[in-house]
Parts: sequence; C-alpha cells; structure tokens
Amino acid sequence: MEIIELDLGADSYPIYIGHGILVDGELLRSHIRSSQVFIVSNETVGPLYRQRVVDSLAGFQVDSVDLPDGEAFKNLETLNRIFTSLLEKKHNRSSTLIAIGGGVVGDTAGFAAACYQRGIDLIQIPTSLLSQVDASVGGKTAVNHSLGKNMIGAFYQPKCVIVDIETLNTLPRREFVAGLAEVIKHGVIRDLQFFQWLETNLDPVLNLEMDSLSYLVKRNCQIKAEVVCADEKERGIRALLNLGHTFGHAVETAMGYGNWLHGEAVAAGMVMAADLSARMGRLPGQECRRVKNLVAKAGLPVSPPAEIEAPRYQELMQVDKKAVDGTVRFVLLDAIGTASLVDNVDEELLLQTLAAGTALCEV
Ligand code: NAD
Ligand code: GLY
Repeated sequence: MEIIELDLGADSYPIYIGHGILVDGELLRSHIRSSQVFIVSNETVGPLYRQRVVDSLAGFQVDSVDLPDGEAFKNLETLNRIFTSLLEKKHNRSSTLIAIGGGVVGDTAGFAAACYQRGIDLIQIPTSLLSQVDASVGGKTAVNHSLGKNMIGAFYQPKCVIVDIETLNTLPRREFVAGLAEVIKHGVIRDLQFFQWLETNLDPVLNLEMDSLSYLVKRNCQIKAEVVCADEKERGIRALLNLGHTFGHAVETAMGYGNWLHGEAVAAGMVMAADLSARMGRLPGQECRRVKNLVAKAGLPVSPPAEIEAPRYQELMQVDKKAVDGTVRFVLLDAIGTASLVDNVDEELLLQTLAAGTALCEV
C-alpha cells in the first residue's frame, strides 16, 4: 500500500492507495472517532461495494443511503435526501459520513458532511478513475445548479481517502476513459515527464494493467496533493487544476448534466485551451498538437459539440468561478508542463477557438 500525506496543518490527512484495501477494516476504523457511521453511495456502486465496508463496522450504528446514479442528480434535492436520512436515523454531530462512489457521490456527500450540523467527519472511498486521481483529493465539495456547474459548495477536507484500485475492474469503459482526461490534465499543467510517460504507457493503462494503473493513480494523487497543499482555497496556483474546465463546464451545462461526461467535456475543453494558447502565441503549435494527440489516443473527444454557439459559451463562462468582476479568466499553456492563469484574453482569438470545431490545434 502507498500512503500520500496531504499536509494541511490541523486538517492534514492520508491518501491510501492499494489493491483490495477496501476490506482492511483496521485501516478504516482507525479514522473513525464516532459510534455512528452513515454511508452514502449510489444505486450502482452501493450494491457492489457497500457490504465490504459494512463488514468492517461491527459494533457501530451503520446507516446508509443509495442516491440515484448520475450527474443529473448532483443537486440540492439529492443533498436534502441525505440530510433527511441522517435526521431520520438520528445521527448527531460526532457521526462519520463515508462516501463510496465516483465524483458525483463524493462531491455531493462531501458537501452534505460539510453542512450537516455544521460539519461531521468525512471519509472518501473513491471508486471511479476520475475520483481516485482527482475528485476525492483536496476537499472541494459541491452540487450543481441549473445555471452553473458546482455553483453551491464548500471546501471541506476528509479525514482520509481510501483508494482501492481493484474497484476499477467494474467501472464501465466510457467512465474509465473519461477519468483519463483529468490524468492528462495533471501532466499538461505540471509534469512534462509524466505526460511523456503517458504517451509511452497509454496502452497498458487502457488494458488495466495494475502496475501501470498503480503508478498512474499514485503520481496523480501526488500532483494533486502538492497543488492543494500549496493553495488549499484556490487563491492562486490551485486554479491551474481547472485547465479545460472553463470551456468544459460550459459544455456540460449547455448539453444537460450527464450527456457529456465531466471528463469528456474537460478533454475537449483542454484541447480548446491549448488551441487558444497557441493562437495567443504562448504555446508552440507542435506542443498544442501533442496535447490533442494524447487526448485522441486515450479515446476522448478532441472537439466540443458542434451545436453550442459562441454567445451560449460566453453566457455560461461568465458564471465560471474564476471570473472576477465579469472578466472570464482562462488557464492557458506556456509549454507542456507549464500553465498560467490569464485574464487578458483577446476576444477575437477566443471567438476563433470557439469556432474552430474539429480544426482545433491546427494553428
Ligand atoms: P460519476 O460519479 O458519475 O461516476 C461515473 C459512473 O461510474 C457512475 O455511473 C457511477 O455510478 C459509476 N461507478 C463509479 N465507480 C464505479 C465502479 N467501481 N464500478 C462500477 N461503476 C462505477 O462520475 P466521475 O467521473 O467519477 O466524477 C465526475 C464528477 O466529479 C463531476 O461531477 C465533477 O464535477 C466532479 N469532480 C470533482 C472534483 C473535485 O475536486 N471535487 C474534481 C474533478 C471532478
Ligand atoms: N479539480 C480541481 C480542484 O480540485 O481544484
């Protein structure tokens, strides 16, 4: 088992990464300070993995709820369902909430833990690739609003994250591939060597070879942990983790939550960000195409849906969380491995990116 420590002073916590560690009751119990435990999962993941966790919790009051599955249910209504269930089962403020699932469950349950009785302990057990390499680490929790993605939320750190890579064996292929978008993103913004490793090792990763997957998950958690430790509340460098998200969130919202998976939207958004970086003269065209090629090789979309027009993007991008005083800010690339937050984007070049369609990165 690998352990990555996220150093946030009093809010520090470990990320455990291993095979089959979901059945390690001692590990789980060592992070529970309460006699009450509330498990939040969904209708797909709950039946697969909840019992393994429950088996470790003899002697605890264990209650659970399975949420409906999907990004479309990451909303205030679902959040309220968790609160109702917690109250009905009389969970008090020393209870522990355990989230078992992908990023939707983790973000929704995490926000419930942040709010319930002003905050109860939270343990994240991510089961999708995307949540293992990104969403479960760093304490961002939120639900969507019909007017904007992840608009209602809080920073709330878990007591630990338990990543059992074996759970990826049951993850649908499309979801696995979607998770690779955030993986490529981590290389693109921060680690050229890891990007090169991905260019060489994508086949074993796509074949779910455990050694490659273990390295991939560990390296991504390290990158995410480094950034979060440097800037927990996103006042600076953490914003770089949003590469592709300004475009991507607009795509997710415009297409209706769940129609384009988060990772798919981020993938297309990352190619758009690379294209804009090249148009602005920041990123050499050759590196722009290298980003696009890796995204394509992973089986992810390299262009956004044709039906979203520029005015709709502009409307949706105005509510991006990085916007300041009505000015949208973009994460752009200076090289593979180096990104910056930029607020003086030329409107004409932005419109060219929005109109480029399948010709992105051919600048
Ligand atoms: P998801 O939670 O919808 O999970 C994807 C699908 O796979 C779901 O149908 C789920 O039920 C299923 N699933 C998950 N694990 C499984 C397993 N082991 N076996 C079988 N099925 C499994 O989507 P996601 O891609 O995990 O997460 C996307 C969400 O994460 C988005 O809402 C995004 O905004 C959020 N996110 C948050 C952060 C953060 O820092 N908090 C970072 C990135 C993304
Ligand atoms: N996924 C972006 C972040 O955690 O900051």
